[in-house]
Amino acid sequence: MQGEEQQTVPVTVMRGLDRDDMQSQSFDVPFVPGMSVLDALIWIRGHADPSLAIRYSCINANACKECSVMVDGQVEYACTARLTPAGATVAPLENKTVIRDLVTDLAPSRERLDKLLASRR
Ligand code: FES
Repeated sequence: MQGEEQQTVPVTVMRGLDRDDMQSQSFDVPFVPGMSVLDALIWIRGHADPSLAIRYSCINANACKECSVMVDGQVEYACTARLTPAGATVAPLENKTVIRDLVTDLAPSRERLDKLLASRR
């Protein structure tokens, strides 16, 4: 309806190339009940800052696990975590090497890789 303003919610994203030098950046994201945190991040990239680095593949099938991030301090899949009217703070996974912004190195550790390879010999 003309004249009605769409509600926006604050989404704060921790950004940077190095975990020790992350900066927070906040965006006002149009809120639609039921939207996911990933929907908000995709909106930010499409409408506010195309340089935001995020990773996802299946969008909401909860199959690829590539969208794992910290949402308000909890490990979540961004595609299944629901955004609330209070907004959210999104950060890269805590135990992974930051590649850029919310993208972390998801490759298995050398130890896990060695075990996997040894089990196949
Ligand atoms: S995008 Fe695949 S699990 Fe979230």
